Amino acid sequence: LENGLARKPPMGWMPFERFRCVTDCSRFPKDCISERLMRRTANLLVSEGYAAAGYRYLIIDDCWMEASRDKATHELLPSEDRFPSGMRDLGNYIHNKGLLFGIYHDLGEKTCMFHGPGAARHFNLDAQTFANWGVDYVKMDGCFASEIELDRGYPEFGRALNKTGRPMVYSCSWPFYKAQPDFKLIAKHCNLWRFADDIQDSVASVTNIMKQYSKSQIELTTHAGPGRWNDPDMLVLGNYHLSYDASRLQLAIWAVIAAPLIMTNDLESVRPEIKELLLNRDIISVNQDPLGQPGHKVLTSQNIQVWIRPVTPVSNFGKNSFAIAFVNLGGFAVCPLCPQIYQVQLHRLGLNSRRGYNVMDLFNRSHNLGLYTPKDTFNTRINPEGVTFYKFTVFPSN
Ligand code: DGJ
Repeated sequence: LENGLARKPPMGWMPFERFRCVTDCSRFPKDCISERLMRRTANLLVSEGYAAAGYRYLIIDDCWMEASRDKATHELLPSEDRFPSGMRDLGNYIHNKGLLFGIYHDLGEKTCMFHGPGAARHFNLDAQTFANWGVDYVKMDGCFASEIELDRGYPEFGRALNKTGRPMVYSCSWPFYKAQPDFKLIAKHCNLWRFADDIQDSVASVTNIMKQYSKSQIELTTHAGPGRWNDPDMLVLGNYHLSYDASRLQLAIWAVIAAPLIMTNDLESVRPEIKELLLNRDIISVNQDPLGQPGHKVLTSQNIQVWIRPVTPVSNFGKNSFAIAFVNLGGFAVCPLCPQIYQVQLHRLGLNSRRGYNVMDLFNRSHNLGLYTPKDTFNTRINPEGVTFYKFTVFPSN
């Protein structure tokens, strides 16, 4: 969507995968969807350095509403118990921290968790309500809307947002609810869109989303770029289930495909080594690269996959640099959970700048591997259900 926003993939935090729809604050005061959780997270985004690294959108997901609209004005109402200060106040709190405020809504009759009224028949009113609250980002879900309503509703709600005059990033779940999404149309109306299943806290879910991406990658990469991004859903690293290697895997692939980096975790209890991954500036730079060109899977060799993204800098001769992720999915016949060695001549991956590339390990910038020309063979040893991730900087870069 050309509304001047999301020129780079948005970065931030959203509670859904981790905190779901916990509404009982008396029994689960730290985990319930509430202003307390949002404020606590706002504070941690800043104090723990996440905001400085770029994670600035703090987005409420489902389950924030009262069951019905205001009887007189028909406006949406936040749960009185859990958001007693109201949304405008929360928006101010978030803005005063230097962060941006996102909110969830649904296009149909109800939200997906049956938790509140959807936008149906109230598009202009709801868009204006969000603008009044100081919202900067709207995640629009698509439960309880027919295909026709989706196709009509997503553009229409986008126009309603635009009419308010307040810049709001528009995140659509449109393709997720369609049998055959028209990505060209979706990219025209949305800043980002969910194209795959809801993520779960498991490596199987991460690799399943990778599979959904690669299956449609020609279409998905054609329509994405500044202002319009494919959204493979939240970053689940920092929770219970991903190993250290699988955490690296999710981060690397989300960087390669120019995905929004929206964490879902409890920032108070992210393990230090995972926090270090989330704050890795070299990987964030790949994700936010100014070329804005999403990458894709270039080859599969048994259980090894190679994913490539063209990035800056570009050489004097117009050749770009590359970020390359080598993935070991595990499951290899003789030793399903062993590290595996993979080797490839660089020109086979499309790296054909004759003067070569300087290679840096993106997970460890002090590990410089030196200069490689297209004929050189690159070797890498990849942990099971893991990844190695390098930047190949074209030489001379300028
Ligand atoms: C479905 C979406 O895909 C999820 O990300 C989340 O927003 C839930 N709905 C909330 O009900």
